[in-house]
Amino acid sequence: MKKSTLFSHVGRPKIGRGTSVNPSVTHASTLLFEKADDLYNGNHRIYGRHGSEVHDALKEAFCALEDGAGCTLTPSGLAANALSILANVKAGDHILVSDSSYGPVRKFCDNHLVKFGVETEYFPPRLGKDIESLIRDNTSCLILESPGSLTLEIQDLPAIVKVAKKAGIITIVDNTWSAGLVYNPLNLGADIAVHAATKYYSGHSDVLFGAIISRTKELAAKVHATNIHLGNSTSPDDAYTILRGFRTITTRFERQEKTALTLAQWLQSHAKVDEVLHPALSTHPDHDIWKRDFTGSACLFSVVLKPCSQAQVLKFLDSLKYFAKGFSFGGYESLIIHCDPQLKRSHSDGFAGPLIRIACGLEDITDLQLDLEQGLATLSLDDNVA
Ligand SMILES: Cc1ncc(COP(=O)(O)O)c(C=O)c1O
Repeated sequence: MKKSTLFSHVGRPKIGRGTSVNPSVTHASTLLFEKADDLYNGNHRIYGRHGSEVHDALKEAFCALEDGAGCTLTPSGLAANALSILANVKAGDHILVSDSSYGPVRKFCDNHLVKFGVETEYFPPRLGKDIESLIRDNTSCLILESPGSLTLEIQDLPAIVKVAKKAGIITIVDNTWSAGLVYNPLNLGADIAVHAATKYYSGHSDVLFGAIISRTKELAAKVHATNIHLGNSTSPDDAYTILRGFRTITTRFERQEKTALTLAQWLQSHAKVDEVLHPALSTHPDHDIWKRDFTGSACLFSVVLKPCSQAQVLKFLDSLKYFAKGFSFGGYESLIIHCDPQLKRSHSDGFAGPLIRIACGLEDITDLQLDLEQGLATLSLDDNVA
């Protein structure tokens, strides 16, 4: 079954007489039982933190998306990343984290995990099978994100997973960029896929949400237990909104994917642009791996401008009419940021010029192109490079 068909049907109530199309939303902290014995015995929900009908429907949708055996919902994408790691480490462990992982994941590892005696080592995202040389006896997890945040390196997941499996290490992949629609880490051998559903599944930049999908029931139970111990829960209204995002995501995604690729191709030959970082371009260093492992691209890519000062970059961004300045992607609106103030890498030579990230929304592509064109026209490359 194609994803668009699946997402029109998954997680819907069984039809009876006059059944609503969508699952109902119930608000509850306390759940009541007719029989006292049911408070402690039986395999049912006993408290609001354990979810509701709409949470179950959403978990079913995420499992269908990623071919997973179980799903845990979290209050944000960052929480999904942090929780998936926390569930799989203990004091004294060493974890390997891709150098191009989402910045706040790095902060979680460096500032939080370290307090519990978990050591983080960052590896170059293009290391591939050579990651074997970094594995230690106490390595417990590999944390990947493909393409990487801001710099869009594609990782050789099958090669990395082969090494991880041999060493008995859990592989966790942040799959937010692809929305799970054009990349399936679990089918390539990874153990856990993580989503910031805040992006495409919200689709309207108004809900923070995350999901952790595990390949096996055992792993899913481990993640679920950690979530329960931490006392996390998500609101039924937010779960409903994210499930609603599933119904339209394939159409929105395809449109945004096409806009991004068209703009990326056009920007490649623009006089003010040094390099476009988009894995579907044949010039991308990891294009062959992308072609082998992905079935498409997404709304998000980066551009290296020809060398110019920070003041010029800010002038360019401020001149844009339709690309709003803000963090995130996958919403209906186009966004743009300059990346250099947040770009933190342990293994990188940097770029020839300033790095800009572009997230394409649902606006008309001609308007978006004209906006970038007039913005780039304001950019003076002659200005002293800061
Ligand atoms: C790749 C990736 N993972 C995780 C997150 C975090 O998601 P959230 O904003 O829901 O915490 C982001 C947010 O930008 C992201 O880009």
